[in-house]
Amino acid sequence: MIIRDYELKDEIGWVRCRTLAFLETAYFDNVLKQKEFYENPAIELVAEIDGQIVGLIDVEYEKEERTVCSRGEGLGGMIWHIAVHPDFSRLGIGKQLLDTAVNKANAMGLNRLEAWTRDDLWVRNWYEKMQFNEVDSYYHIYFEGDEMNHQIQNKIPKLYLVNTFAHYVGDNIDQFNNKRIHQCVCFEKNL
Ligand SMILES: CC(C)(COP(=O)(O)OP(=O)(O)OC[C@H]1O[C@@H](n2cnc3c(N)ncnc32)[C@H](O)[C@@H]1OP(=O)(O)O)[C@@H](O)C(=O)NCCC(=O)NCCS
Repeated sequence: MIIRDYELKDEIGWVRCRTLAFLETAYFDNVLKQKEFYENPAIELVAEIDGQIVGLIDVEYEKEERTVCSRGEGLGGMIWHIAVHPDFSRLGIGKQLLDTAVNKANAMGLNRLEAWTRDDLWVRNWYEKMQFNEVDSYYHIYFEGDEMNHQIQNKIPKLYLVNTFAHYVGDNIDQFNNKRIHQCVCFEKNL
């Protein structure tokens, strides 16, 4: 297994690896058809075995304070994507990707990494094992059908919502009983 910088030719392998890894998580329907690119510079690494992309990490980082991360002081990096192909999970690939990204982040003078993930306990446990601390959270809610229509109908005539995805940052989550709800958790690792 080698860990190296992402190259343009890796895009299909990157997309497939991410899709399969996310299929097993609360992000199962968060499918990208193309690799994401960033406004700011980024550490973009892949893990490769026999020509196959089996892991990836993307960390967009700050040249100027608070241009990428949601919190904290000094220059930080945001892990937008980290994924290991499920056929190669629990072999230390995720850790090696992170360690390599951390080395690069240190060399660039970053003081922390931030990452957001949903409520999969095993993924949270992985972040904790990697010495990340949980520092914040809010909710992702999916409303099905037209149930949110009455909320906007008066503002935009003739526009009808069909399925709605929303962020909820309040405390009364119980009012949304029976909805698809994910807690979205912020992890932070000091470098
Ligand atoms: C989180 C992830 C990157 C870890 O990569 P990995 O190479 O499998 O993990 P590592 O080998 O570095 O660490 C292994 C540890 O991770 C946890 N873990 C990984 N996969 C697991 C699984 N399927 N079930 C339970 N725990 C798991 C365990 O704590 C495991 O330790 P153990 O085997 O001693 O019990 C990978 O599982 C993944 O791609 N998850 C889905 C994508 C995702 O949720 N990304 C983060 C949100 S953006």
